Amino acid sequence: MRVDVVTIFPDYLAALDLSLVGKARKAGLLDLRVHDLRDWTTDRHRTVDDTPFGGGAGMVMRPDVWGRALDDVLGSADDDAPGHLVVPTPSGEVFTQRHAEALAGEEHVVVACGRYEGIDARVVDRARAAGHRVSEFSIGDYVLNGGEVAALVMIEAFGRLLPGVVGNPHSLVEESHGAAGLLEYPVYTKPPAWEGLDVPDVLLSGHHARIERWRRDQALARTAARRPDMIAALDVAGLDKADLTVLAEQGWTVDSGRLRPVAE
Ligand SMILES: C[S@@+](CC[C@H](N)C(=O)[O-])C[C@H]1O[C@@H](n2cnc3c(N)ncnc32)[C@H](O)[C@@H]1O
Repeated sequence: MRVDVVTIFPDYLAALDLSLVGKARKAGLLDLRVHDLRDWTTDRHRTVDDTPFGGGAGMVMRPDVWGRALDDVLGSADDDAPGHLVVPTPSGEVFTQRHAEALAGEEHVVVACGRYEGIDARVVDRARAAGHRVSEFSIGDYVLNGGEVAALVMIEAFGRLLPGVVGNPHSLVEESHGAAGLLEYPVYTKPPAWEGLDVPDVLLSGHHARIERWRRDQALARTAARRPDMIAALDVAGLDKADLTVLAEQGWTVDSGRLRPVAE
């Protein structure tokens, strides 16, 4: 998979040389290229921003500079592997594991990192009009200074899903936000007793079916406590009797084929 990142702070992306994503790059699983947007400026000061039309605070990134950069990096929509343009922005759709899974299936992703008050809106309009797929993603309901941290988040999220990046692919299956639609159960390692805190007996029992049931119960209870929105989104058809018992203990009941809080 090829990923291009365009930014005015290329050094910010150096973290992608570390850990599993760094290994994926070295192994050739991820062809990651980081570009300095200022390479597409034409003036002596290498200017990438200007004042906003309509007035107001801050500066806006110029469309002409971004247009030249994306023409080079994104390519044409008719190319063999045209880039899927990803624009981090707090006004975008919230980025989730489903988006990470979809991006992991792409051949070429281009991330355009904004700064200041963001990128002139015509840049995205023009890429869409040229036939490119464009996704504007927010990594959460808060405002960062620039798109670089969001790019790191998204590249790590989809990069680890590429075949061969995570050593044991099974470890991806039961994770939070996976196909089960639940948060992961609590995890423990050695020593079994530590500062008066014991690992739950069932995990030391060697009884696989009981361990699996305990983990499922914990995942359901934890999700109900922390993310009721995820419980409400569960498909009731995928839940067994034991699941419904745990959910009932957490205050959820099935009503007209949907899970609803009892107090609702
Ligand atoms: C200061 S922000 C611009 C905020 C913009 N004026 C607004 O209110 O929507 C500068 C850049 O940081 C990035 N950014 C900030 N918060 C983000 C978030 N929650 N998710 C993704 N990118 C974000 C975007 O690239 C954005 O263009």
